[in-house]
Amino acid sequence: MYREKSQRLNDIRYDIRGPIYMKALEMEAQGQAIIPLNIGNPAAFGLEVPDIIQNNLKESLGKSGGYTHQLGNIKAREAVATYATNWQIEGLSPQQIAIGNGVSELILMSMQALLNAGDEVLVPAPDYPLWTAAVGLAGGKAVHYHCDEKNGWQPDLDYIERKISSKTKALVIINPNNPTGAVYNIECLQSMVDLAQKHDLVVCSDEIYDHVYFDEGSHTACAALSTNGLFLTYGGLSKNHFAAGYRAGWMIMSGDTEKAAGFWEGINLLASMRLCSNALAQSVIPIALQHFGEIKKICITRWSVV
Ligand SMILES: Cc1ncc(COP(=O)(O)O)c(C=O)c1O
Repeated sequence: MYREKSQRLNDIRYDIRGPIYMKALEMEAQGQAIIPLNIGNPAAFGLEVPDIIQNNLKESLGKSGGYTHQLGNIKAREAVATYATNWQIEGLSPQQIAIGNGVSELILMSMQALLNAGDEVLVPAPDYPLWTAAVGLAGGKAVHYHCDEKNGWQPDLDYIERKISSKTKALVIINPNNPTGAVYNIECLQSMVDLAQKHDLVVCSDEIYDHVYFDEGSHTACAALSTNGLFLTYGGLSKNHFAAGYRAGWMIMSGDTEKAAGFWEGINLLASMRLCSNALAQSVIPIALQHFGEIKKICITRWSVV
């Protein structure tokens, strides 16, 4: 017997893998050449995982059959803590880091752990649709702040502040941004962090593209801009390492973490319910991050060919 989907999903959209994708398939079948930019999948452009990671994965096969700790194996979390020092996020303990099946799972989990019904989250628009969907699925409301194409897709701070209400709980920053490609300069990031602090908002900083710069620019992590306030920083192997299919991502909680004990308890609970993220993918995180210098050179060479 057929049943309707849950009403919780009624307002949830993910068109880049739904109607837009179906339309593209239809056009392709009619002979049109389609460049698949709907999801950032490096493999679709022939960009494969560097050998050093592939070999490490093969070596780990025999040792990755068991569940790990719900937040991820300790070596992976330590490697993320060390990696974060590149972005001046210092003094992290592995207890502040959760490994997930990609950043996607951690976005979903963190919104579930953070939001009560009706809580609002400021999300950049044009948006990476998972953020809007994750907020909605958690019972919250995504309030979009428009980034203006005429202004290089930069956010408008006054506009963001006007959108803050007593229900606003978090500010999402995606930098470098998907889908616009905008990179926010340090002054802009500092203003957004200051604004979040002024209104006691959690900063959810999606930095999955932290090494994807096509010029001499270098990355600034939001969490490095203040020790006050709560920061959730998201990163992973999908883009920098061309390992999107491995499903390996992390979330770092930093800043005023004492005030967030309940939130982190929620993360632990949700992480426990799915036991752990893919153990094999977790096992390559230390090599992937420790050898990132050489991996980055390989990736840049391959990007420039594409
Ligand atoms: C801005 C942004 N955040 C998160 C993700 C999800 O990444 P992951 O593969 O780690 O789930 C993507 C993937 O395209 C993205 O563009």
